Amino acid sequence: MELKSKIAFCEGKNFWETKEFPQYGIPSMFMCDGPHGLRKQEGVNKDYLGVNDSRPATCFPAAVSTACSWDVELVGKIGSAIAEEAADQGVGIFLGPGVNIKRNPLCGRNFEYFSEDPYLAGKLAASFIKNAQKNGIGTSLKHFACNNQEFKRLSSDSILDERTLREIYLTPFEIAVREGKPKTVMCAYNKINGVYCSDNKELLTNILRGEWGFEGLVVTDWGAMHDRIASFKAGCDLNMPGGSNYMEQKVLDAVARGELDEADIDRSVQRVKKMVLEAQQVLKNKTCCDYDAHHELARIVAEQSAVLLKNVDNILPLKKEQKIAFVGDMAKDMRYQGAGSSHINPTRLVHPADVLGSSVSVEQADVAVVFAGLPSEYESEGFDRENMKMPQEQVKLIEETAAKNPNTVVVLFCGAPVETPWADKVKGILYMGLPGQAGGEAVRNLLYGVANPSGKLAETWPIQYSDCPSATYYPQWDAQYREGIYVGYRYYDKADVRVRWKFGFGLSYTDFAYSNPQLDGEMVRVTVTNTGNCPGAEVVQLYVAPPQDGIHRPVRELKRFTKVHLEPGESKEVSFSLDERCFSVWDNGWKVPSGSYTILAGGNPDKLIVAGAVEKSGEVVKIPDWQPGSWYENPKGSPSLEQWETMLGRKYVPYTSQKGKFTMNDTVTDMKRHSLVMRIMYLVVKRIISKGTKPDTAEYRMLLETSAGSPLRSLQISSGIKEKFFKGILAMANGEFIQGIRILLKK
Ligand code: GLC
Repeated sequence: MELKSKIAFCEGKNFWETKEFPQYGIPSMFMCDGPHGLRKQEGVNKDYLGVNDSRPATCFPAAVSTACSWDVELVGKIGSAIAEEAADQGVGIFLGPGVNIKRNPLCGRNFEYFSEDPYLAGKLAASFIKNAQKNGIGTSLKHFACNNQEFKRLSSDSILDERTLREIYLTPFEIAVREGKPKTVMCAYNKINGVYCSDNKELLTNILRGEWGFEGLVVTDWGAMHDRIASFKAGCDLNMPGGSNYMEQKVLDAVARGELDEADIDRSVQRVKKMVLEAQQVLKNKTCCDYDAHHELARIVAEQSAVLLKNVDNILPLKKEQKIAFVGDMAKDMRYQGAGSSHINPTRLVHPADVLGSSVSVEQADVAVVFAGLPSEYESEGFDRENMKMPQEQVKLIEETAAKNPNTVVVLFCGAPVETPWADKVKGILYMGLPGQAGGEAVRNLLYGVANPSGKLAETWPIQYSDCPSATYYPQWDAQYREGIYVGYRYYDKADVRVRWKFGFGLSYTDFAYSNPQLDGEMVRVTVTNTGNCPGAEVVQLYVAPPQDGIHRPVRELKRFTKVHLEPGESKEVSFSLDERCFSVWDNGWKVPSGSYTILAGGNPDKLIVAGAVEKSGEVVKIPDWQPGSWYENPKGSPSLEQWETMLGRKYVPYTSQKGKFTMNDTVTDMKRHSLVMRIMYLVVKRIISKGTKPDTAEYRMLLETSAGSPLRSLQISSGIKEKFFKGILAMANGEFIQGIRILLKK
């Protein structure tokens, strides 16, 4: 294969396929989304935003829901089912799971991610990957790494200290890579401490491959390629989507000048070839796929993922003989998935009203059930929420219903926490997350006790957004990870801030008791008993409470969990084996500070029992000079820029784009303030978008953010428009109008 072909082979053929080289016996391979169902587009209109059609596939509950199941086996079954549908539809790699940490509740894409806790996210992702790949179909672990906001995601710089990067943001990827062994990892759009992920050798080679033993291929997020020369050196193997021949000549020139070793390109060629040939082997053997069975699986997962947040007077489960009022638009039109690249065209769709009996008026009802949540335009890929509020009319409906009927229950559909000022006015709250296409059947079964809720929250629900430590500085173009490791419950517990519902919280129609905790060396045992009168499942969580007299640390961290199903009266002993990582901090490597570590276990964060304490002689981990008296020693509220710079050890220098120095990393949206040409471009883009979507929809915002809000280089890669067009308008935006015309007219 000559050099030019090698470079071409490391870029897709089109939006979803890799290039074929029949002369070398290499076929093309189809890749497509997504994390909770297949989104295969075969028509002319292909997009990475879920706007255009795709083939019907099972829409499973989104990760925001499945994470609440805390059931690695169940999440593994979803991975396996999606892989069956991928094989059935001729797809070699499907693009999921997403394991980015839920750093702030406003991130528009949190519905696609598992948790605020790295261990829970990593273990669920590892099982999803392992099971999805057991018959050879591949996955793509994403978005690697520190992609924790949608605002300016294609050019944002995630700025954070090494300890936070390692302990919080890389750990879910590390667990998923070491235990799941994904065939591919998708590098994120953003920079990390100034270096784009696609160019980041420390990230993609030294850590991912050198430390974690990853042997697969790194694919860019769609349009995430920054510098193809740097990316070949960094170990970023495949540029997607294809069609632009992005920087092909520059790569050829760099090899010719000896600035890029052809061996780096050969290495990527081998990885692409290996991935494609393995897929060809798998896809050759047609397998059957039972879409009806997958619909049933989607229902079971939705049932097992639902979280019972409130159940005063045991108002739930409902009884058949009761007169029930079903209220709210989401009874007939539930929110069951998120907007963006993960959006599925479901094989079937069952809303609650489709399977619940007829409703009575609210006044006659024994119980009123309100179906409410976040409409799709409130949370989506491509943009972040402005606040944590629900639509005012929904809050009003809940409060009016509760005023008329004290026996009111709320069924909540949303992909992220919302403020719930009405929570004290109702007797029952059932959180469904985004329950997928079978959500209506799951809701019916849960409301009537056919299924017993067993979910636990995988993220904290603050009472109000201002309680969140990053509330005063999220999001910004450069993402300032000022709160460090104090994300989610790690912050709320340490700062002793009251929250609406805690990470790990969830009720059941039965009760569980814990007894006989034992700690033997680093083996922990505890007995769980179902003391109620109906079968149920309990999530046993194990936390390690580290010493608080040395380097600053959270007051407790999740280190193990398991889910047990128990008949009434049944007991089971669960056991956990701890390892060094359960006690470690990152301090230029994983180290165990000496001290006493308390081991806590239980199914409810407010009722954990002590299993014992592990004494660690460990290593001396120096307390940072800046720690005494700092925000990090006693976090409360938002850390200041100065406190963060002290912890970071350097001044934060904001990125500024200015006329005359605009580059292909700048966006039409940013340049239009300084340039008539870019203002015209912006209007043209808006006009094109509004031809297909209404301005007040999630789709419109997403399309605008990911076009006018994309760096020109990403538009070049994803649009198929020639490079000279972008170079031409860039010259004009920099005030070199004649030069711009010359570039546009150049043959
Ligand atoms: C999108 C998403 C990524 C998706 C890809 C292809 O921009 O960030 O998750 O897999 O492009 O649709």
